[in-house]
Amino acid sequence: MIQTPFYLIDRARLARNMEIVDRLRAGSGAKALLALKCFATWPVFDALRDHMDGTTSSSLYELRLGRERFGKETHAYAVAWAGHEMAEAVGYADKMIFNSISQLNRFDTQSASIGRGLRLNPRFSTSGFDLADPARPFSRLGEWDVGQIETVMDRISGFMIHYNCENADFALFDRQLTRIEDEFGGLLHRLEWVSLGGGIHFTGEGYPVDALAARLRAFAERFGVQVYLEPGEAAVTGAASLEVTVLDVLNNGKDLAVVDASVEAHMLDLLIYRQSARMEVAGDHSYMICGKSCLAGDIFGEYGFAAPLAVGDRLSIADAAGYTMVKKNWFNGVKMPSIVVRELDGSMTVAREFGYADFEGNLG
Ligand SMILES: Cc1ncc(COP(=O)(O)O)c(C=O)c1O
Repeated sequence: MIQTPFYLIDRARLARNMEIVDRLRAGSGAKALLALKCFATWPVFDALRDHMDGTTSSSLYELRLGRERFGKETHAYAVAWAGHEMAEAVGYADKMIFNSISQLNRFDTQSASIGRGLRLNPRFSTSGFDLADPARPFSRLGEWDVGQIETVMDRISGFMIHYNCENADFALFDRQLTRIEDEFGGLLHRLEWVSLGGGIHFTGEGYPVDALAARLRAFAERFGVQVYLEPGEAAVTGAASLEVTVLDVLNNGKDLAVVDASVEAHMLDLLIYRQSARMEVAGDHSYMICGKSCLAGDIFGEYGFAAPLAVGDRLSIADAAGYTMVKKNWFNGVKMPSIVVRELDGSMTVAREFGYADFEGNLG
């Protein structure tokens, strides 16, 4: 038995998502780039590489990881580049997407050897969280003034428009794409490519993949552009769990179980968005599952179990792929979960274990 805690990545689940990505690419003509901000666990890039066209990034390090560990087409985007990063970034990137006109101007000469794009902010989105809403008031995420964008159209070949956030509603996607066509159509006609970013949950149960493919194809044909998508969550949804062991059971008015992992250190997004973890359990024995860091609110959630929990029981916490491994940290010096891969034949491969040296080396 592999020592907990560990993230468990399931190749069969990745393959299921990739079948849908393939169907969407074939039906739409769109290219799919893995958004490394969501998932960058490169030991399983081989399961994605044949089904995706490359990667997109949010920093120099993600860009380099995409180029070196994934290969294929490599898009570079960052909210802002530093001057000392640009030469290296241009060396890795096939396309450089600037977040602002001022960054495009600043790095105009240095980036002229590769295709350039600009992030367009349509000023609407599907986000339900102010924290994650690219269209929030005063957003720094992209340009929106058509007059200003006009002044740089001769230097860019594409737009990146990321405005979908966990959007499982095709009708909403369709309406918002129509708004983009109506409001920015004059500019879109002059481009070679348009990336519609990530955030479309097309691998979710029951999503009308073929309708999405047809809509994307119609968009591409109308404006004469290559469409890109930048799926993060959609590519890896359902493909990993966090495997933990119960270390202590107590009752402080409620039955509590403390496990050998931490929400704050190992599933930070749940804390940020104030959500509970998902566990596929059922039963009458209710427990609050707690993390082992010192944070009082380090709580995975409350669940019903079929039998009382005991020290040594193993639990599996779902949805540990997207925005999870990329955000893990060493808070409290809690043991970093290993990275384990469930192969297609059911066998387990330990891809990476972390020890004290990693903790120490992280701080000095
Ligand atoms: C520019 C850009 N592209 C792609 C993504 C990936 O989005 P998702 O993981 O929701 O598909 C994001 C997420 O924030 C993003 O900001």
